[in-house]
Amino acid sequence: MIIVIDGPAGSGKSSTAKAIANRLGIKFLDSGALYRAITYLWLKSGKPDKAEFFENLSNIQLEADFKDQTFYVQAGGEDLTDKIRTKYVADQVSEIASYKIARSFVNSFMRDLVKKDTYIADGRDLGTAVFSDADLKFYMDASLKERAKRRFLEMKNSDSSVTLKDVMKNLRSRDEKDQNRDNDPLKRADDAIIIDTTGKSFEEQVSEMISIINEKLNLN
Ligand code: DC
Repeated sequence: MIIVIDGPAGSGKSSTAKAIANRLGIKFLDSGALYRAITYLWLKSGKPDKAEFFENLSNIQLEADFKDQTFYVQAGGEDLTDKIRTKYVADQVSEIASYKIARSFVNSFMRDLVKKDTYIADGRDLGTAVFSDADLKFYMDASLKERAKRRFLEMKNSDSSVTLKDVMKNLRSRDEKDQNRDNDPLKRADDAIIIDTTGKSFEEQVSEMISIINEKLNLN
């Protein structure tokens, strides 16, 4: 069974999905983390030719799963879980995520992963492209200002040089790229339930979504 949450960067998808996963005893899949991981690997390789690099992605031993309440990502034994959260990676990830070949790699990785368990996954195109037959679809949104504030608080733990202005600029440009790219742009699926989190507390949004999940699905 798969529940998906799509929406723009900083709308609270990942933290909400993770809290729901923990409370319902299901697994969390962070699709953005997979795009960040391949972006990190491309940067670490010295920004080689993209077509060649992404065509050979299947040689990378990428591993990811939800364990001990964390979505961890590893590549060739290197733990990338924290390394993918820097501004350096955030500044490049939308461009990398716009490549069709990079998207096919991440999509097939995710489809394989969810075969084994019940997941709640978050991303941009999960309800429209990757899991168009998902059991339940949400679309989370919030104002740009509120999203930037949240993302800033999250990033400053791993990157003390980051400013709120930088984060706002980065989010605005990522929204623009995510919504206007040719390959699977960010878009609300027609059958997705909209959750606008502007002005809502974290607890309010989690409870609202858990009530909907309990009403629509039988997870036991
Ligand atoms: O959710 P996030 O900020 O960690 O996502 C990082 C980037 O990955 C984001 O800029 C867009 C891209 N992404 C995507 O294109 N499709 C997804 N399903 C998830 C993320």
